[in-house]
Amino acid sequence: MTYACRVDDVPLGEGRVVTLDSRRIAVFRASGGWYALDAACPHMGGPLADGIVCDRAVICPLHDRRYDLATGAPLGAGEPVAAHAVELRGERVFVLVAEPARVAA
Ligand code: FES
Repeated sequence: MTYACRVDDVPLGEGRVVTLDSRRIAVFRASGGWYALDAACPHMGGPLADGIVCDRAVICPLHDRRYDLATGAPLGAGEPVAAHAVELRGERVFVLVAEPARVAA
């Protein structure tokens, strides 16, 4: 686990980009908990941290593709985005950076 940010750095219902292990990671604070995905949308690189967070999904601001925040799976068409485990330790947020997402064969 790598320190990502403080709890107060991410308002409820929003995402913020951090750089961990040379990867740009979007950390989300949803009503149901904390999540982390690769920051770039696999479609055309849209900024997922700037997307709308609803329930357990984020909507890419460029072309409205949706991704499950917990798994990175597309909710509809498209490729998955890598999802990363998040852990809160007091007021600090830690992320375990996963391998890049693979497209199912
Ligand atoms: S870049 Fe995200 S949906 Fe197109």
